[in-house]
Amino acid sequence: MGAVESIPTAWYLDPAVLRVERERVFAPHWHYVGSAEPVAEPGTFMAVELGDLPIVVTRDTDGVLHALANVCRHRGSLIAEGCGRRKTLQCMYHGWTYDLDGALRNAPGLELSPEEGQLPRLSVGTVGGLLFVTANRDAPPIEQVMAPWVELTRTVSGIDLGRLERRRSIPHRIDANWKVVAENFLECYHCPLIHGDTLPGYGGDDYIIVEHEHIETHRLDSDRFSWASLFPNTQLSCFGDHGVVVARQLVPNGVGQTTAILDYWFDPSRTPEQEEETVAWFEKVVGEDIPLCDSVQRGLDSGLLERGVLHPEQEAGPLAFQERIAACMEGALA
Ligand code: FES
Ligand SMILES: [Fe+2]
Repeated sequence: MGAVESIPTAWYLDPAVLRVERERVFAPHWHYVGSAEPVAEPGTFMAVELGDLPIVVTRDTDGVLHALANVCRHRGSLIAEGCGRRKTLQCMYHGWTYDLDGALRNAPGLELSPEEGQLPRLSVGTVGGLLFVTANRDAPPIEQVMAPWVELTRTVSGIDLGRLERRRSIPHRIDANWKVVAENFLECYHCPLIHGDTLPGYGGDDYIIVEHEHIETHRLDSDRFSWASLFPNTQLSCFGDHGVVVARQLVPNGVGQTTAILDYWFDPSRTPEQEEETVAWFEKVVGEDIPLCDSVQRGLDSGLLERGVLHPEQEAGPLAFQERIAACMEGALA
């Protein structure tokens, strides 16, 4: 079987590419950003990351959910940190104050209208308790985007997403470009060799991959497993037998480092012991993957590989991912 060329190695190394990706790859697409629980009540806020863009999600006093740029309209200080309960957001630098829908309420000593000082608005939505954000105001609703996976979690995994609770959030620092990490998660070509003990049967003939309009799904019915990739940096693994969804968010820390945040969402019927067992097992899987990502980045850094190659079927996931990256980057790089 013939192989297909990868995107250029330089795209995994060049800080200028990451800057373009921020605008063309991260901002316009939906991202999983954590649990909606801190903003469940009116008059609450939570700072989150969209890729590496600072965003604040709020629920205003009327109960409406908003996502706003977390960057002060005055001179750019970050406004909100962490999460909490407040009726307004106040920048710590000169005290400009915003309503929870982002309208400027007060700029000490200046006459500005609420609209002039409005924080840029983004789109926000939830699937179960999982919170998603995009800077694209025209994006289709996240419920519609994720619908094929939500269906699989019910039919293949027997999971009711509405019941799940986030019990653990574990960050992993990886010495690799975020695309190296994403591509590792997007294929199971390496599964038989690397995860033979932890994920037996994965990557075989019964492992079904489908490209939908907005997401890619994988399923392995024998293991009640259903999975989704939401371009560019969210992956959701649902293991029916473990009563768990593991939601992964990739946050780039510069061009050569990534934080992969793994949120474990459990069905409340699972006992603490069962949860511990599941987390230990899945962290072992992730522990098998991280050295591979570190190793790829070192190889790419060497300058000895101009472009890699991909298996067109076994690596259909990374291939589709790279095609989308290339489409986003078109015309952006000299
Ligand atoms: S930078 Fe926010 S009030 Fe000045
Ligand atoms: Fe893996």
